[in-house]
Amino acid sequence: MSGTDDPKRFAAEAGLPLNRTAVVGFGRGAHDYEQSRPSYPAAAVDLVVEVLGLGPGRRVLDLAAGTGKFTRLLAPSGVALVAVEPVAAMRAQLEDSVAGVTVLDGTAEVIPLDGASVDGAVAAQAFHWFDAPAALAEIHRVVRPEGRLALVWNVQDTSVDWVRRFREIQVAAAGKKPYEDGTDWSAVVAGAGGFAALRHERFIYGHELTPELLVQRAASTSFVSALDDDARQACLDEVAGLASSHPDLAGRERFTFPYFTDVFWCQRI
Ligand SMILES: C[S@@+](CC[C@H](N)C(=O)[O-])C[C@H]1O[C@@H](n2cnc3c(N)ncnc32)[C@H](O)[C@@H]1O
Repeated sequence: MSGTDDPKRFAAEAGLPLNRTAVVGFGRGAHDYEQSRPSYPAAAVDLVVEVLGLGPGRRVLDLAAGTGKFTRLLAPSGVALVAVEPVAAMRAQLEDSVAGVTVLDGTAEVIPLDGASVDGAVAAQAFHWFDAPAALAEIHRVVRPEGRLALVWNVQDTSVDWVRRFREIQVAAAGKKPYEDGTDWSAVVAGAGGFAALRHERFIYGHELTPELLVQRAASTSFVSALDDDARQACLDEVAGLASSHPDLAGRERFTFPYFTDVFWCQRI
């Protein structure tokens, strides 16, 4: 299979509202994902807990929960957690790593919950995969009136030269990315109707990695993981070469991968 296949065609053939690269890439890369992807900064989590009013007696949906990297950060608030994730390998990692969460197979476009059954919904590092109008209609259905929605992303700081190179190596291997960067999420949410204006706050974040974890971080990228074995290995070898030769990384046992964490939130009307 090739990273340049049309994911929408795959989804249509399979009768699924899912992107092919997400299904194949996160299916193969679930272990690498759990091992090498960053968590989220405490200040961003605190903001989500505050603006969604999470705590005992409340129920929140973590949509596209993956291996539970964001889910586990919400658990200390005491909120009841429902995690929805379509890829079985990601759900298996989630069930291993986070206790006390209701884990359901489902998609953002077809959420397996009753109407007005949650107080809020969160999608971390995931909304760019969704069919946004369909997902927002479903989120509007399952979140009670005046409940809240939060969208969270860790964004790689590509002003740092080796991070820019890291990104370029992977995109070049895949041919193109399976989603667009730079989407105006405020416009997307406003266009859907049923939600108040999206608010935004940005946090600075860093994830400590070793050279081996940087390679594993690339292996966890859906559009790298979805490549055929030779192309995937060539890409990972190039990332290993970056770690051993870039002047800011060479000879270092540990270094920090720089991120910004974006939190967007709004009220469901
Ligand atoms: C980058 S991971 C994020 C996982 C987790 N939320 C986190 O913060 O680490 C993106 C997740 O979105 C899921 N996904 C992709 N398309 C989806 C869709 N249409 N509906 C629901 N989940 C989807 C993938 O299976 C994957 O687990």
